[in-house]
Amino acid sequence: MKRLLFVLLLCLSSFLTTHAQKFENLAMTPPMGWNSWNKFACNINEELIKGIADQMVATGLRDAGYVYLNLDDCWLGTRDENGFITCDKQRFPSGIKALADYVHSKGLKLGIYSDAGRLTCQEHPGSLGHEYQDALMYARWEVDYLKYDWCNTENINPIGAYTLMRDALRAAGRPIVFSMCEGGANQPWKWAKEVGHLWRTTMDIGCHFEKPIPKNGEWYPLSVLEILDQQVDIRDASGPGHWNDPDMLEVGNGMTVNQDRAHFTMWCMLSAPLILGNDLRSMSVATEEIIKNAEAIAIDQDSLGITALRVEQKDSVDVWLKPLANGDWAFCLLNRAHTPAKFDIDWQKYNKSDSLSARSTGFDKITYSIKDVWAKKKAGTTKKNKSVVIPAQDVVMYRLQPTK
Ligand code: GAL
Repeated sequence: MKRLLFVLLLCLSSFLTTHAQKFENLAMTPPMGWNSWNKFACNINEELIKGIADQMVATGLRDAGYVYLNLDDCWLGTRDENGFITCDKQRFPSGIKALADYVHSKGLKLGIYSDAGRLTCQEHPGSLGHEYQDALMYARWEVDYLKYDWCNTENINPIGAYTLMRDALRAAGRPIVFSMCEGGANQPWKWAKEVGHLWRTTMDIGCHFEKPIPKNGEWYPLSVLEILDQQVDIRDASGPGHWNDPDMLEVGNGMTVNQDRAHFTMWCMLSAPLILGNDLRSMSVATEEIIKNAEAIAIDQDSLGITALRVEQKDSVDVWLKPLANGDWAFCLLNRAHTPAKFDIDWQKYNKSDSLSARSTGFDKITYSIKDVWAKKKAGTTKKNKSVVIPAQDVVMYRLQPTK
């Protein structure tokens, strides 16, 4: 009898443990894709999303790694008589399953959006009280990614609410990347590793490199530089399968080419998810060149998954270093100023050890070859110091490789 009880308890505990975990081996590198919010907000529909899917393939973005095509807020309709969520039939007349089939037929994956509260931020039905039903529906529709927001949550507990949806997804059985979007207010970098695959670290990004000065008390979303500065102290939290998310990209939405390049580069240095937010049907050559730069993407997607560390701030220039697999490093100079900055690189100054990766640059012992990521050419070795000019609000980014 005792033995039987023991076996039963063992079964129960293994059942509970299986269900109390997020899906493993998902998002082992930062997710890459496209999301509708930054450019289109609520102006989304089936035709637009299918058009974006077509463009992701035609422009080579899918093959560059951008595989998630994510719906944001406003796809939602009402709940049916049994409480299951439906889509907005005006916007998505063929339904989400048909859209998922289309997206999958293009070799892409579909992402969807919901909210832990009663209503989403745009006041469509949220998942509160329907978590298991919603997760089941996403699995039935063959959704691959869920962004889960934090509006109208009144006084529910964030850890509890996100864990509940994690468990609901797990119970539904389809591996779905779980992207937590609570704006950083509850410091998810301290607790979300076991809950989600990525979590927003800040409030929303706006399409500006630095915050515009409010003239009549206007409110602005965060700038690229403000968000960047908020990532410096939380780099330890991020890694394969559990990423800090400094929000989606604004490349191609109105900043200058230099600012766009700097924004993209710094997100690669941060090992940030690369979720595009521009209109892929009408992008400029300059935008395409930025978001398709294979060397920059490789730095973001590096298998170590270590976020860069800021090693110096001198006048308007930040110096960042990111440990990469196989002994490589990414070295990046960011010029925050509105004028070009001349900068002398004395490699020996950057003889740094990084406890997070247990790696040292060792410029005194190792000579690295230098590849300029944006100029797309070799740029000598670290044997000699270098003097560079960084254009206004732009970057210089190198990949350093130990020479034999
Ligand atoms: C915000 C979120 C944005 C977008 C928006 C939709 O809370 O941070 O990325 O999803 O809601 O209403």
